[in-house]
Amino acid sequence: LTEEQLNQLKLSYGRCTVSPKFFDDFYQIFFASSPAIQERFKNTDMEAQKALLRHGLSHLIKFAVGSHAAELKVNRLAESHDRTHMDIPAWMYEKWIESLIKAISIHDKKINDRLIDQWNQTMQVGINYMIAKY
Ligand code: HEM
Repeated sequence: LTEEQLNQLKLSYGRCTVSPKFFDDFYQIFFASSPAIQERFKNTDMEAQKALLRHGLSHLIKFAVGSHAAELKVNRLAESHDRTHMDIPAWMYEKWIESLIKAISIHDKKINDRLIDQWNQTMQVGINYMIAKY
């Protein structure tokens, strides 16, 4: 990811996060992708979860550009989601990234194919790491 691509990605993320229903739509799409995924959140305070995801996404972006601080955060995230904790299998991460791209496509008014590629590539770095630590 070049500096310019990173800037484009951050701007895209900014356009999404100022769009009031971005996180609602993400979780709606993510839950609709599988009853097993929806089930995992049956006792979850979704207001709190949306705030946590906002931070988690920033960590994943910074992780993909090699930030050591972000590596600590993503490492903790990988642990909480691993088989001995929340036990999140790889296929759920596939749904996660697909749902994220759909939500971004709705909320970033300037979305284009190149940005979608960059989002996919960037999120995949952190997701591969989390799956490897499963
Ligand atoms: C909790 C982020 C993928 C299910 C959390 C938390 C964060 C987070 C920040 C709060 C607890 C913590 O910090 O460990 C992310 C990110 C993901 C991701 C950035 C993508 C790489 C997934 C996937 C699932 C999932 C694919 C599949 C169902 C959950 C559940 C909780 C959780 C069930 C606990 C909710 C509760 O407290 O009731 N996630 N997550 N996450 N995540 Fe994820």
